[in-house]
Amino acid sequence: MNRARGESRAVGATVAELLASADLPPREAQILFSRAAGLSRIELITRDQTVPAEPVIAAFRELAARRRSGEPIAYLVGYREFYGHRFGVSPAVLIPRPETEHLVEEALKVLAPLVTPSVLDLGTGSGAIALALALARPDARVTAAERSTAALAVARANGVTLKGSVRWVESDWYEALSGARYDLIVSNPPYVALDDRHLQEGDLRFEPREALTDGSDGHGALGRIIRGAPAHLEPGGWLLLEHGFDQARAVRQALDEAGFDGVTTWKDLAGLDRVSGGFCGPCPGGL
Ligand SMILES: C[S@@+](CC[C@H](N)C(=O)[O-])C[C@H]1O[C@@H](n2cnc3c(N)ncnc32)[C@H](O)[C@@H]1O
Repeated sequence: MNRARGESRAVGATVAELLASADLPPREAQILFSRAAGLSRIELITRDQTVPAEPVIAAFRELAARRRSGEPIAYLVGYREFYGHRFGVSPAVLIPRPETEHLVEEALKVLAPLVTPSVLDLGTGSGAIALALALARPDARVTAAERSTAALAVARANGVTLKGSVRWVESDWYEALSGARYDLIVSNPPYVALDDRHLQEGDLRFEPREALTDGSDGHGALGRIIRGAPAHLEPGGWLLLEHGFDQARAVRQALDEAGFDGVTTWKDLAGLDRVSGGFCGPCPGGL
């Protein structure tokens, strides 16, 4: 009898045999089996010669099939680690990226000399940036804005689980925040161009389109956030933005045009230009 890929003999098979037959990288098979069986990865390793129960085999096979068809591991297991914390994720939110930890680090440097600083995270998604900052700086007053109701529900749930103090606001960028000013605004906005072929590849195929692209050339959301920032920054307040590795020059130009001082781009560990920012000291339209 022909068997589907990854569907080899399972009755009586040990965990190790089942994992080996999944047609997945070993680490992925382990993560998915741990999820299906409700075991930690250490428990799994110590039990890999045992024979799993039929419902566990069925659950693992379903997860493995979904993974083989490309679904991101983070959505299949329901979480992703970011800045040392476990964030719940669903297909309503972007899966937090390691690159974005760089933005958190630069933000924490800006906050270092400030006492009880006010912070705004625009487009919070899972709440990754807002909560990483709130947990690292419990004295900070952090607000997180997001347009997607479904994403905001994921962020709120992460706030409860991680016990981070964040004010969650449903808002189209600054729309629901009129009159409010902050010492720091951070954002990892949708900056991929609509025609970028990467949207058709890997995990990006499964992530919310509005979290990835502005629907045009990738500079629309960045521009709106930059132009709106002076009216929402305290004197001397900073704006820090994540962007594509090839967008730094355009982002710096937009920051200059909006009147920002100290306009800088920081390279990530791979040497790529991924974070730019500046401060309003003051900007036109600012205080
Ligand atoms: C690249 S994701 C970043 C998510 C999260 N901050 C992170 O770094 O993992 C961009 C987020 O911006 C949100 N977004 C897109 N357009 C928006 C708008 N007009 N106003 C507010 N949020 C928006 C998306 O829903 C998405 O959650």
